[in-house]
Amino acid sequence: LPTTPELTTGRDAGNLRFHDFAPPMESFRAAVLEGLSRAEKAIPCRFLYDARGSRLFDLICEQPEYYPTLAETRILERHGDDIAAWIGPDAQLIELGSGSSVKVELLLDAMAAPAGYMPIDISREHLWTAAARIAARRPGLAVHAVCADYAQAFDLPRIPGRRVAFFPGSTIGNFDPTEARNFLALWRERLGAGGAMIVGVDLKKDPALINRAYNDAAGVTAAFSLNLLARANRELGAEFRLDGFAHHAHYDPAEGRVEIHLVSRRAQSVTIGDRIVRFAAGERLHIENSYKYDAEAFAALAEEAGFAWRTVWFDPDRLFSVHFLSVASDRVGTH
Ligand code: TRP
Repeated sequence: LPTTPELTTGRDAGNLRFHDFAPPMESFRAAVLEGLSRAEKAIPCRFLYDARGSRLFDLICEQPEYYPTLAETRILERHGDDIAAWIGPDAQLIELGSGSSVKVELLLDAMAAPAGYMPIDISREHLWTAAARIAARRPGLAVHAVCADYAQAFDLPRIPGRRVAFFPGSTIGNFDPTEARNFLALWRERLGAGGAMIVGVDLKKDPALINRAYNDAAGVTAAFSLNLLARANRELGAEFRLDGFAHHAHYDPAEGRVEIHLVSRRAQSVTIGDRIVRFAAGERLHIENSYKYDAEAFAALAEEAGFAWRTVWFDPDRLFSVHFLSVASDRVGTH
C-alpha cells in the first residue's frame, strides 16, 4: 500500500508537533457515491466525525443514557495506577481516535514519566485543539498530534519510547470481528517489540440498557447520525432533506451488535452533484455497527491477532471492560 505523505502544518510550537496525513476530501465523495449505489446502502462510519460530528459525539458522551463513557472513566479512575504499572517505564502513549483527549488524561496522570503522547484522529481541528490543551497543561510532555485515518497506512512518527497504544470508547466494536482482528494485527506490527495495547471494549448486557444508550432522550445521537447527511450537503452539494430520514439504532442480541441506520421516511430522490439516488419508503442506509463482547471472547480475538492477552479491568456494574495486551516478544517480526 502506498503511504500518504506527511504535510507540513507550520503549527509546531514548544512541546507540540503536528503531523498531517489527512485523506483528501474527494475520498468522502467517492465513498458516499459508492456506498449509495449498493443494494444495501451504506456510508462508512469514519465520515461521521467532521468538526460538527466530533462536537456532537462529545455531547453523546455526556448523555446520562450513554453508559460507555461513564463506565470506562470509572475504570480509568479506579485502576489507573494498576494500568500504569502494566505499561511500565519509557513508554510513549499513542491514542487512536483521540477526539477531545479527556479520558487519556487519567492515564497520563497515572504514568510516572510518559516518554510522549501521540493523539491520532481524523478530525483535524478537534485534534489540534485537544493536543494544544494537553501540551499547554503538561510542558514537560512531548505531544505529537497526528491527523490520519488510523486504520490506513501512514508513517507513524518515530519518537522515543516503547509504543503503547490506547484505544478507548469501544471503537474496536465499530469493526466487525474479522476487521477487528486484522486491525489489531496491523497495530501489533506497528507497535513492535516491547509494545502494548490498552483497549476499551463494551460488554454484552441487557438489551434495554444498550438500546437506551444509542437512542438518548435528548436526541443527540439522532443529530449525530443525521449530521452525516448534513455533511454531504455541506461538502458535496448533496440535497438530502434532513426531515426525510430518521435515526434508528437497535441491539440484536443474536449478532451481538447495535445496528445503526438512517431510515427513509418516504419514497424520495436525492441529488448529489450529477447523480440522483432513490430511496424507497422505509429503506435503510447503514451507518454503523457497534459490537459488544464478553471479556473472554475479546481476549480470544486479541490472541488470534497475535497479541498476548494480559489482564482486564471492569467497572463495578460490569458494563464495560478495559483490556491490556502485549506484543508477545517471541512473535515479533514473524508476520
Ligand atoms: N464507538 C461508539 C460506540 O460504538 C460510537 C457511537 C456511539 C456511535 N453512538 C453512536 C456511532 C451513534 C454512530 C451512531 O458506542
